[in-house]
Amino acid sequence: MDSIIITGNGPLSGRIPISGAKNTCLKLMTAALLADEPLTLTNVPRLSDITTLRALLESLGCEVALLREGRVMVLSARQITSHRADYQIVRKLRASFNVLGPLLARTGEAIVSLPGGCAIGARRVDLHLMALERLGATITLEQGYVHARAAHGLSGAMIEFPLVSVGATENALMAATLAKGTTVIRNAAREPDTVDLAKCLGAMGAQIEGAGSAEITVHGVARLHGTTHEVIPDRIELGTFMIAPAIAGGEVELMGGKRALLEAFCQHLEEAGVEIAETHNSLRVRRRGNRVRAVDVTTAPFPGFPTDLQAQFMALMCTAEGTSVMEETIFENRFMHAPELIRMGARIDVRGGTATVTGVPRLTGAPVMATDLRASVSLIMAGLAAEGETCVARVYHLDRGYEQIEQKLLAVGARIERVKGGVAGTSRFPR
Ligand code: UD1
Repeated sequence: MDSIIITGNGPLSGRIPISGAKNTCLKLMTAALLADEPLTLTNVPRLSDITTLRALLESLGCEVALLREGRVMVLSARQITSHRADYQIVRKLRASFNVLGPLLARTGEAIVSLPGGCAIGARRVDLHLMALERLGATITLEQGYVHARAAHGLSGAMIEFPLVSVGATENALMAATLAKGTTVIRNAAREPDTVDLAKCLGAMGAQIEGAGSAEITVHGVARLHGTTHEVIPDRIELGTFMIAPAIAGGEVELMGGKRALLEAFCQHLEEAGVEIAETHNSLRVRRRGNRVRAVDVTTAPFPGFPTDLQAQFMALMCTAEGTSVMEETIFENRFMHAPELIRMGARIDVRGGTATVTGVPRLTGAPVMATDLRASVSLIMAGLAAEGETCVARVYHLDRGYEQIEQKLLAVGARIERVKGGVAGTSRFPR
């Protein structure tokens, strides 16, 4: 298994291009199942999660072609040849559960494996199922698979979620586009990913109002058609690379970055002493002074502080002046980076969903290992500010969600390299 070695190397300087959003692109890909005409996506990120979902869609009969070095994807679901999303793929990528709504709405039947738990928590799917039942589906669970049936099609309904779920909102939204009559989704996710999905569905002929607010109304139509849609920039990749100059010092310009994608996160960074300037097509980020200040964080659904940036912000707080209290409210087991950061000299006390982080002047490099995507990248961020060499094992997590991370960080002056087979202590950089 490959490892990544980072050698803390002082201030960063330069530009990083932000790729298309992984989570948005995954949902847009599943939307292709709703139409019998091709959906063309541009600004597609080249990531292993995208390849995994592509394989699943192909197994359902969707033809997928990549053009322009993988940046453009054409998905054609003219004929659905299978209703079954297999466990072997769904367990690798939870977002593949989002084929359930489109497949059911288009064909009246879907058999999708339950995804199972994952490193950051149980991640239930009850709200996805509740929403589809409200739309008239009959749902049974058989041998680890969800069987959803609606032989006479789905019917519009009122769906009120007891808590905000991005995936369940998106499954409900996609299914409702082809339901008979009007659906109202209350307590809907307001994430930019959901808004972009609604925009793409609108361009495919769906009638949707209120995306981006807590109440979405969908007037069902008989069929959707093809379109071309550009994937929005990845706000989690953007936020991650905003941490880089904040933790290592220097100034980095994030090309394609937009503040509106991450307002709450930007405010926290500014409170910590980081300057953020927005241009028409980028965000420039610069740390004031030698160390950031401690800032408290509570994760929340959009427009709150994103749970997907909690680990990276914790890495930053490890080097801050003062003590910060970080509360994770979305997932129950999302502090698994903390013990690894502690191995790098951080002072973190985790009690349930709260982590208290007391900043230290300097972290020290160490061999570390991560259990999920955002935890892995938080260790890379910590490594940028650590004295000596940090070797991050299990980098396949990173390849799921960060395109060319070494190249992007090398371009701003970081010392980072991938080592095949994960042998530590083989850095080509002079120590
Ligand atoms: C999506 C993102 C993920 C992000 C998360 C929260 C994708 C591919 N992934 O995940 O990166 O961290 O939003 O912003 O878009 N829940 C239930 N029952 C359900 C569904 C969810 O109890 O049926 C709970 C979850 O366990 C969790 C909370 O709701 O505690 C939020 O989860 P949700 O918004 O659904 O996350 P995902 O859509 O899986």
